Amino acid sequence: MTMYTQLEKGTFIPGRREVRYGGDYNPEQWNRETWLEDIELMRHAGVNLVSVGIFSWVMVEPREREYDFTFLDEILELLGAADIDVDLGTPTAAPPAWFWAKYPDAHPVTREGVRLGNGSRGMVSPSSPEYRRAAVAVTEQLAARYGSHPAVIMWHVHNEYGAPISDSYDDYSVAAFRTWLEGRYGTLEALNAAWGTAFWGQVYGEWSEIDAPRLSASVSNQAQRLDFQRFTSDALLECFIAERDAIRRHAPTAPITTNFMATNCPSIDYWKWAKEVDIVANDHYLVAERLDNHVLLSMDADLSRSLAGGRPWILMEHSTSAVNWQPRNIAKRRGELARNSLAHFARGADAVLFFQFRASRYGAEKFHSAMLPHAGTSSRVWKEVVQLGADLSRLGGALGSRVQARVAIVWSIESFWALDLEWRPSVELNHRERQEAFYAALWAMGVTIDFVHPSHELSGYDAVFAPSLYLLDAEGAANIESYVSGGGTLAVSYFSGIVGTNDEVLPGASPGALREVLGLEIQEFLPLRETETVVLDNGFGTGSAWSEDVLVTSAEALASYESGPAAGQPAITRNRHGSGDAWYVSTKIDGADLSAFIAQVLESAGVVIGAPPAGLEVVTRAGDTEQYTFFINHSSDAATVASPTGARDALTGSAAAPETTIPGDGFRILVSPVG
Ligand code: GLA
Repeated sequence: MTMYTQLEKGTFIPGRREVRYGGDYNPEQWNRETWLEDIELMRHAGVNLVSVGIFSWVMVEPREREYDFTFLDEILELLGAADIDVDLGTPTAAPPAWFWAKYPDAHPVTREGVRLGNGSRGMVSPSSPEYRRAAVAVTEQLAARYGSHPAVIMWHVHNEYGAPISDSYDDYSVAAFRTWLEGRYGTLEALNAAWGTAFWGQVYGEWSEIDAPRLSASVSNQAQRLDFQRFTSDALLECFIAERDAIRRHAPTAPITTNFMATNCPSIDYWKWAKEVDIVANDHYLVAERLDNHVLLSMDADLSRSLAGGRPWILMEHSTSAVNWQPRNIAKRRGELARNSLAHFARGADAVLFFQFRASRYGAEKFHSAMLPHAGTSSRVWKEVVQLGADLSRLGGALGSRVQARVAIVWSIESFWALDLEWRPSVELNHRERQEAFYAALWAMGVTIDFVHPSHELSGYDAVFAPSLYLLDAEGAANIESYVSGGGTLAVSYFSGIVGTNDEVLPGASPGALREVLGLEIQEFLPLRETETVVLDNGFGTGSAWSEDVLVTSAEALASYESGPAAGQPAITRNRHGSGDAWYVSTKIDGADLSAFIAQVLESAGVVIGAPPAGLEVVTRAGDTEQYTFFINHSSDAATVASPTGARDALTGSAAAPETTIPGDGFRILVSPVG
């Protein structure tokens, strides 16, 4: 496919046209005899890409500026000889003990003032000059040595920036925060205005008076906290860019990336970060106990693809079975491994990788699953790993193909940061909960979703949902308004468009950023008691958690409150704006009520709802001439669907019957002409 060729020119996984399969490999934990066995087993399983060196700083730099590449030289040679490509990690998520002993000021400090110790892994103060210098130095050495190594086809910087901690309140961070603020505001007058420091008499007269928003007697200045979030994401990004540029000096064409945690990292603005990586890579772990965890997986995969601008991305880590860090680490059931992997692949991943190849015997992760578990090659997990490798080897034709979505959900991390601050009108205002509720309803209808930033071009979407968009800046508001006036269909859930960039309530009645487009004004927020529900008329069901005293200006009321504090007032509205439509729902509706609301919005926008059998995930990746349709059955009942015209089974090559049955807990992949 032409797309893949184009991407091969420096922006995607170079080399052979195969689905990349493998995972993190930590050879420093094993002897040479085990390496040889591992490589044999990797070949047997179809592994063709491993991430190496992610936690091996002390092995390659045992003392400051003394380097020893023996182990990496050997393992890279062995992997290369076995035709297994390497994604070389920079080891900067785990500084050596000598680093901490020599540079104690690099220890991160929590908001509560606790200085964290070492002996684990994770981030240092991202603003420590010693850390930045040492991280770039070891990266530069690795890049100089392996920048043109034939086995090293791409680079993996650091590990999960932002986890397990991100913001640090140490002295270096405070100093860097002041510099960042000077860059953003220029003058103290501008900062004082943006932060509204007249409130509680917080006005600053000198830059040196400004601190990080550490734990205080009461609620800290919320604009300051929001800016500290932005600063932290930027400080971590500077660390990534410094390492990336050091690699680039020695490896001019190899893709360089770092592993994101798309919907699961509270501290990083991935929209901004995605512009800096050559290819988006994502880690995803199931919330084991949730029975709908496959829906959350899809949401993560759709956000990964959206961060990648629709281009293919890498599933850098997921697990073959249980993890070790949740309260109850439920093992994956038979077939779940393949269903999970294929769901990521169906949603645009061109590589399927796991944490990790061989299970560790020592350390914090010894109870985490792996491709090769402690039980070895007789285990069910290993057999499923081998089977998946064989299946993926037949899907090379899908590489580089694209997932098409006609419907989008607005995802704004800045808005989520702001809403998560204290003293909101109700603890029930929870962006994650609303995002999941809307996404899950759309998933069940078989609607493929892109995520978009408020400033993104929206005109290509038939419908755009904003389930929780509390903070909306002027640019985003204008963009959304022009989408609707140009003919788009927008649906907004409550407590959206309330504040601007600095968490300041926009002038006049709420929602200041969306008042015109929605054609209404909120006279007063009317949060509900914990178990209180309100009845809506016209068959719209029941609301909970939240209601509002809505005054329509130009909108039409589709439903009104029959009960509760807003009885008699509009609850669900629709406003004709320009040539488009803007819907608003002012209370929390769930289940069938939410699905019915969403279905009405989609119908009005002309979106055809597939309505697949319950639990059946259907996603299509389309290339220039062929498309791959993935049917993944998350129910234990078999499902039967119409096959696409002219389809054949992607794994067996045999022609598909007019109807295809997908066994319970199983999957089918059909290839058909694009049409
Ligand atoms: C994260 C890390 C890995 C490993 C896994 C375990 O994703 O990046 O190093 O700890 O979690 O689930």
